[in-house]
Amino acid sequence: MTVPLASGRDADVYALDAHRVLRRYRAGGDVRPEADVMRYLHRLGYPVPEVWRAEGCELELTRLSGPTLTEALRDGDIDVRTCADVLADLHRRLHTLPARLSDDPADRVLHLDLHPGNILLTEDAPVVIDWRNTAEGPPELDTTTTALILAEVATDPGEPLAATAEQLLADFLAEVGTAGLLDEAVALRARTGPHGPDTLARAAALVARVGRG
Ligand SMILES: Nc1ncnc2c1ncn2[C@@H]1O[C@H](COP(=O)(O)OP(=O)(O)OP(=O)(O)O)[C@@H](O)[C@H]1O
Ligand SMILES: [Mg+2]
Repeated sequence: MTVPLASGRDADVYALDAHRVLRRYRAGGDVRPEADVMRYLHRLGYPVPEVWRAEGCELELTRLSGPTLTEALRDGDIDVRTCADVLADLHRRLHTLPARLSDDPADRVLHLDLHPGNILLTEDAPVVIDWRNTAEGPPELDTTTTALILAEVATDPGEPLAATAEQLLADFLAEVGTAGLLDEAVALRARTGPHGPDTLARAAALVARVGRG
């Protein structure tokens, strides 16, 4: 277990064998909250990898095979419209389920990082990974956060997929409706994302513009 399958901003993902991966946070931390949510959603039939072990900063998950939605889009294996359908459908299905903890009947489980890079297209179906930011609250915060993440890509001048991301943003917003709670989504991305205030302001302006139609 020396070379990771993938290394993200905070975690390395190692293949344990043909069936399991180990996802480990480099800076430590407690994976139990995200493991609890994944187990809950798995029981309800939502497409997440099965959790086999959750201890400290280590999460052992079913190993999936297939490209991310971002890779499929980049390689021309899926068109933008279909990608928007998959993305909107995964939000809609998540937000149909009851919250696990909250007493507020309007609250739902939120992913809060549900972009195409966190969706694996397995042979059976798309599966949602990377539940590090999960929380409960109003579904619109999830859809608007996704819209903002797409806009961060669309407004990045060095990003080859910028134009694709802008079209995806338009198609996604057309499916999910308006992008409410935009200030809250910007505050969340300031805490959880890689960008500073200027980038987030540019991205938020694009979401507002596209969201108005
Ligand atoms: N269950 C899994 N089965 C197979 N590969 C996986 C699995 N989970 C994650 N991966 C691989 O690891 C990559 C990163 O996973 P993940 O998004 O969970 O980690 P991350 O550190 O949060 O990454 P990032 O910072 O890029 O979001 C995925 O794109 C995928 O290639
Ligand atoms: Mg990820």
